[in-house]
Order: sequence, then structure tokens, then C-alpha cells
Amino acid sequence: MEAYLLDWANLLLRWLHVITAIAWIGSSFYFVFLDSSLLAPTAEDLKAKGVDGAIWSVHGGGFYHAQKYMVAPKGGIDSKLHWFYWESYATWLSGFALFSVLYLWNASAFLVDKQVFDWSPTAAGVTAVGFLVAFWFIYDAICRVFGFRKNGDRVVAALLLVVVALSCWLATELFSGRAAFLIVGAMLATAMSANVFFWIIPGQRKVVAAMTSGKPYDAGALAVHGKRGKQRSVHNTYFTLPVLIAMISNHYSFFYSHPQRWLVLFLLMLAGALIRQFFVQRHSWHLGRAGHPWPYAAAGVLVLLAMVAWLRPAPAAPVAALPEVVGYAEIKPVIEQRCYSCHGEAVQMKNLRLDSHELVTQAAPLIYQQVVVSKIMPLSNSTQMTETERAMVARWFEGLEKKQ
Ligand code: HEC
Repeated sequence: MEAYLLDWANLLLRWLHVITAIAWIGSSFYFVFLDSSLLAPTAEDLKAKGVDGAIWSVHGGGFYHAQKYMVAPKGGIDSKLHWFYWESYATWLSGFALFSVLYLWNASAFLVDKQVFDWSPTAAGVTAVGFLVAFWFIYDAICRVFGFRKNGDRVVAALLLVVVALSCWLATELFSGRAAFLIVGAMLATAMSANVFFWIIPGQRKVVAAMTSGKPYDAGALAVHGKRGKQRSVHNTYFTLPVLIAMISNHYSFFYSHPQRWLVLFLLMLAGALIRQFFVQRHSWHLGRAGHPWPYAAAGVLVLLAMVAWLRPAPAAPVAALPEVVGYAEIKPVIEQRCYSCHGEAVQMKNLRLDSHELVTQAAPLIYQQVVVSKIMPLSNSTQMTETERAMVARWFEGLEKKQ
């Protein structure tokens, strides 16, 4: 029953998380586009109002004319002011809930891989959360110290590359491969939400409070909030594609079970950041303000192509000679040894029991998929299944297919 309810929680939280993330990243991409496509106004009335940039667009049967004011609009705001933060908070909350249900609840199976690092599920769970918190403090300190110096953006970017590479390495030294990928992704995603929560929104609130106080205020002093908000929001846009690839690549075992998986993860995220730069720069390129961004797309794609070549499967290791026909009698001892600990009488991960002829036959396509095709099972190969045994399962499954 517990496994059944956890599956529901897993599905519904995942759904929610994807929906909120689409809303967040969607609006964030839209505002990045908007900001880089604004043109200085030519109309006298816009100039008189203090508009810094404006853009015409057409969508869904109507025309829109958005205008940006760098600090406070001179005439004040005469109708409802729309804020954008629940998209971010809801994404973080649903993501953390999903992480808890999946990884913290079952830390012994999902977080800990004893062949990687032998520690208690509690210590692993606490450390996983520690990654999220520690990265925020390090990232925030880097931005505070270097963010507004000369060449600040470059220094911040270089330092972040180093910190992220180190995090990839450390996470893969501590956690199961799959969890390590997720934790590094969640770490960047937490910093994104924290940027919104600790800097962007509080800064905007201060500006709005000054604007609506009715008292005179120093626009120059308030501009720092706009500048800082913009800086963090730009970082967020470069984090998006790396976060997404970290979170979805952990569904493919050939990435996270690779001996150099820290580098696999780092390169995937690097490709993401490069490709994002292509899209960001494209907006300014359209307006003749920046060079063509193709080198970034090319660099991102080259990284991915190099990885395709690097990660290609080795020629199959020679397996011991197998009997012509493999039946249940032959694979039963294998399943007993490699699977019962998680899918037996005592524990049924994912509600799956494999301790009888009938149950194994019923689950045959799933078993074939997980053991032979994707090699996701046994989880992290914690029970050390051999290639010969996988070949046996393959032959057994092919035999069943033929019988039908
Ligand atoms: C260390 C624990 C562990 C071991 C050992 C293990 N599994 Fe699993 N298995 C799991 C967990 C946890 C899941 C759920 C994974 C998920 O939802 O991502 C799972 C899921 C599965 C699924 C997918 C079920 C579904 O409904 O999608 C199959 C099939 C499976 N295991 C087969 C096997 C076989 C066959 C073996 C032995 C060769 C094995 N497992 C060994 C923990 C384990």
C-alpha cells in the first residue's frame, strides 16, 4: 500500500513540477526576449513619460505594446501591478517535495550506492540537502564579491564553472549516479529560486514601496535594485538549460553509470549554457546589436557530438556460453540473488514482486526492458549482476516471445 501511494504522490508531484516549471521558465524566457528586443522610443509621448524601451508584438489575434521603465514610472502605476514569483516558488516547492518522496523517503535505495560510498541513508539525505544550501551560499558570495567589479560577469562565470565542476565531481563520489545528477541539477535550481526569493523580489518591493510612498525618493539609489535583479535574472537564464538536462539525463543509465560521470554531467550542462547563449544573443543580433550567435550553438552541438562519440557502447564483453534454451529454472537463481532483496517477499520496490514463476512471467517485458535494454535494474547494480546473467535474461525473454 505504501509503495502504491508513493507512486501516486510521485506522479502527481512530477506533473505539478513540470507544469510550474513550464510556467516559470516560459515567463522567464519571455522576459529575456522582451528585454533584449526593446527599442528606444521615438514617439514624443513615450519619451515624455520616461519610457526606456518599447516593443510591439502580435499574438493570439491582438497587438501588444510593452514599455519598460528602468526605475519608477513617472506617472506612477494606475492599475493592478502583476508580479511573477509564484511560478518560481511553486517549481521549487513541488521539486523539493518530489525529491523528498523519491530520494529522501527511499534514501537507502536511491541516494546511497554502497559501491560508490558506504554511509547511512540519513547522512546521505542530510548531505544532499546540504548541497542545495551550500551552493547557494557560495554562489551568492561570488556574486556579492565579484559581481559588480570590472569584468565582473566574466569572473563570476569562470568561478561558477569551477564550483559546478567540483560539485559534479563531489556529488558523483558520494551518491548513486542517478541521485548525483539530480542533486547537482536541484542545486542550481535552488539558487535560481533563491535569486528570486532573496534578491529579485525584495529589491522590486523596495522600489515599489518608495514609488507608492508619496514621498520624494532618490531614483539613483534605487537603481541598484534593478541592476542586481537584472544580474541574478541573467544568471537564472543561463542556469535553465543545464538544470533541465541534469534532471532528465538521470533517466538514462549510460550517462549516470559511466566511470567519468561527473564529466558527463558537467559537459551536458556546459552544452546547455552555450546553447542558451545562442538563443539569448539571437534577440540582440536581430536588432543589429550583437554578432551572429551561431558560434555558441556550434560549440554546444560540438560538445554533444563529441559526447556521442565518447560514450558509445564498448563492443559487448564476451559472455560465457549460454544454453540454447533458457527457462525459468535457469533464471530463477539469478533473480533470487540479484532482485529479491528489493522485489521479494519483504520489500516490493515499485510494487513489483518477482518471487514466483507466475509473477516473473507476468513482468517479463518490464524485466527485459529494465535489465537488458536500459540496464537500470538492479538499481545502481547494487546486487552486482553480471553481463552473462543479463544475456541469460535476454535469451529467456526471446524464448518466451517465440512461444507466443
Ligand atoms: C536495490 C534495490 C533494487 C534491486 C536490487 C532491484 N530493483 Fe528493480 N526497482 C527498484 C526500484 C527502487 C524501482 C523503482 C524505480 C523507479 O521508479 O525509478 C525498481 C523498478 C523496477 C522495475 C520497473 C517496474 C515498473 O513498474 O516500472 C522492474 C521491471 C524492475 N525493477 C526489475 C528488477 C529486476 C529484474 C531486478 C534484478 C535483476 C531488480 N529490479 C533489482 C529497486 C531495485
